[in-house]
Amino acid sequence: MAFLTIACPCLFGLESVLSGEVKRMGGQDVEVTDGRVCFKGNPRMIARANVLLRTAERVLIVVGGFRAETFQDLFEGVYHLPWENFIGSKDAFPVKGWSLNSKLRSVPDCQSIIKKAIAKRLGEHYGAAWLEESGPVHQIQFSLMRDVASIMIDTSGSGLHKRGYRPTANVAPIKETLAAGIADLARVRENTLLVDPFCGSGTLLIEGATKALRIAPGLRRRFSAEHWGLIPQEDWQEERRASFELVRRSGTFRALGSDIDSASVDLTLDNAERAGIRSKISCHTENVKNFVPPEEPFVLITNPPYGERMLTVEQAEELYRVMGQAFEPGEGRSYYVISPHEQFERLFGRAASRRRKLYNGNIKCTLYMFF
Ligand SMILES: C[S@@+](CC[C@H](N)C(=O)[O-])C[C@H]1O[C@@H](n2cnc3c(N)ncnc32)[C@H](O)[C@@H]1O
Repeated sequence: MAFLTIACPCLFGLESVLSGEVKRMGGQDVEVTDGRVCFKGNPRMIARANVLLRTAERVLIVVGGFRAETFQDLFEGVYHLPWENFIGSKDAFPVKGWSLNSKLRSVPDCQSIIKKAIAKRLGEHYGAAWLEESGPVHQIQFSLMRDVASIMIDTSGSGLHKRGYRPTANVAPIKETLAAGIADLARVRENTLLVDPFCGSGTLLIEGATKALRIAPGLRRRFSAEHWGLIPQEDWQEERRASFELVRRSGTFRALGSDIDSASVDLTLDNAERAGIRSKISCHTENVKNFVPPEEPFVLITNPPYGERMLTVEQAEELYRVMGQAFEPGEGRSYYVISPHEQFERLFGRAASRRRKLYNGNIKCTLYMFF
């Protein structure tokens, strides 16, 4: 099959991080829009993207795009796409999607029109009056944005943030893809000493460690498209083997975690074990007010309580003052704190060297960077 257009949605604010990842893995004609990165690649690139990308939410094949102001436009546009190249005669193809600022506003109606158009095309192609849909699932995902339809197939299955190492988390965990983006922005490397004094379930430390050791995020999980005929099994095996060979355990990377809650410390260590980086991490129970910066150069990345799911706003504000005292500036020290509090710098007591808007779920946050 010729080159495909591949789209990877990401959290708002991480587009440049994801586009860097896509370019490094060999994606071509990379285009960045709000919350998504598109590129061209052969079918094998789908396997590579699913296994390697740390900040993508999923990997989608863009089957086509067109203007759709009426249900007739939508039906015709979908019907004329080459569905038989992707979906076999017995495969299932559920449809979901969303519509924004478009004349076609009813998502259930769009779903059923798209379903009918694909079924008509496949029925004619396979000479079947009825499609049994008992085979592998090809989740169709559509978007309608200002009357332009984009019709895609999801190759990932469950979201790519599900790495497999965090079956349980504490009450306010950070999403793995966001943690990976922060580790990228903080330039975590194979010789970094990485610190998180609010480690919770350990996500930032684990994402930092797997990045430093080049452990691919998708090594331990399966993807929808593995059950399709589109990408040969050997390609998946080859991509997993190649990513396995990239792993580097020889660097001096170390992760130091702490948390006031001893159950969180245990959780961090259990998750680190599952992620294959237990030997690189140590963790203990401690209140941040007793934080002592390590002697050697370090990178601290952290996600303190926001006063929403954990603590009151006043308690969170008091904690930011304590952090300002404890996180002493100095040569070789950098601090990265993600918070939605607009007055964070005032409470912390220092102006950030840089700031970046990032979304933690639907909470608008800023990553405050102090070098
Ligand atoms: C937002 S959660 C961190 C979540 C973490 N990034 C994760 O992915 O699971 C904040 C953490 O700060 C801890 N915490 C609250 N007050 C603290 C304090 N004074 N000192 C140290 N840790 C504290 C909580 O126990 C909680 O685990």
